[in-house]
Amino acid sequence: MQLHRGFGAGAMADPVNRRIILARRPDGIPRPEHFELVETPPGEPGPGEILIRNRYLSVDPAQRGWANDAPNYSPPVALGEVMRAMAVGEVVASRHPDYRPGEYLTGMFGWQDYCLAAADRLWFRVDPAVAPISTALGVLGLNGLTAYFGLLEIGQPAQGETVVVSTGAGAVGSAVGQIARIQGCRTVAITGSAEKAAMCRTVYGYDAAIDYRAEGDLDAALAAGCPDGVDVYFDNVSGAISDVVLRHLALGARVVICGTASQASWDPHPLGPRPERHLLVKRARMQGLLIFDFADRFDEARRRLAAWLDAGKLVYREDVRDGIESAPAALTALYAGENTGKMVIRL
Ligand SMILES: NC(=O)c1ccc[n+]([C@@H]2O[C@H](COP(=O)([O-])OP(=O)(O)OC[C@H]3O[C@@H](n4cnc5c(N)ncnc54)[C@H](OP(=O)(O)O)[C@@H]3O)[C@@H](O)[C@H]2O)c1
Repeated sequence: MQLHRGFGAGAMADPVNRRIILARRPDGIPRPEHFELVETPPGEPGPGEILIRNRYLSVDPAQRGWANDAPNYSPPVALGEVMRAMAVGEVVASRHPDYRPGEYLTGMFGWQDYCLAAADRLWFRVDPAVAPISTALGVLGLNGLTAYFGLLEIGQPAQGETVVVSTGAGAVGSAVGQIARIQGCRTVAITGSAEKAAMCRTVYGYDAAIDYRAEGDLDAALAAGCPDGVDVYFDNVSGAISDVVLRHLALGARVVICGTASQASWDPHPLGPRPERHLLVKRARMQGLLIFDFADRFDEARRRLAAWLDAGKLVYREDVRDGIESAPAALTALYAGENTGKMVIRL
């Protein structure tokens, strides 16, 4: 077994693993009272295991689904278990032949200081020379990959087409807008504040940005922003915003269903206007996206995303909060639209 400073005989005594566990099942958006902070020893790696010291924890809208027990694509986190989360961390002890102390890895390490992981929890190695390690959770991680595959594989944008992105200033949305621009598309963001709309135009290079909270008439704003209709709608919110966008689909449009942030309840399913007439009349296609389906192509996508980052064609913003205790409130804040950029917790 390889040992790192802080572990093993003669090293710093008794490191503590602070873990945020799911203590109560939320009904909808998780809030701090649904979580508790507990302390345990970090443990020692068994054969084939790695001990990782987390450096950044991810805060993702998907955690709402993981904390709730409404039907979803994966089983819910059990009560009393550490909250499921992506994280990036440093290997501090390893009994796996492929991983050495000092390396940075990312994977489903959870909201905790340390993760004792088998190799199947790992997503990929992180090279600090390429970009700050926190980007492995955002633009070079789950968010960038979701934008990349959702837009290019499902949205299939062609040069000159119009791409509309809901939560256009968000971690996924900002990458979608920029990748669409790299493809030569006209890009239009929908977002929830004047500050974010300004960021969309000046930082992420959208051709137009609509603040849906300020805009009295979203329908008219979309008509002005998309005079030739919407060829690709990358949807992160569903609900009332999407009901308006669907009216503006162009012939042969593609609608990427990435997220449903505006849906207050998943069980029972919300009722609303029906999209079928829009899809029929415009011969449009609507398809759901689950990023994990593209796992065998992550390396290819990360190489392209990193090259765009390096060339300055792709930029990102982070909303960094400090300390593991701040994670639950950060998740609630995400659903209040308070984040500007990828929400991460620095440990
Ligand atoms: N399908 C997949 O595989 C996959 C993978 C990763 C992420 N996602 C989805 O992608 C979406 C974006 O994720 P992200 O990590 O990039 O988060 P994000 O966009 O950085 O943050 C979430 C944003 O959602 C918006 N929002 C929150 N509540 C809303 C409401 N009631 N109505 C309208 N908008 C609301 C807010 O933006 P505004 O202020 O602009 O409204 C908020 O900033 C999420 O829906 C997430 O679930 C899907």
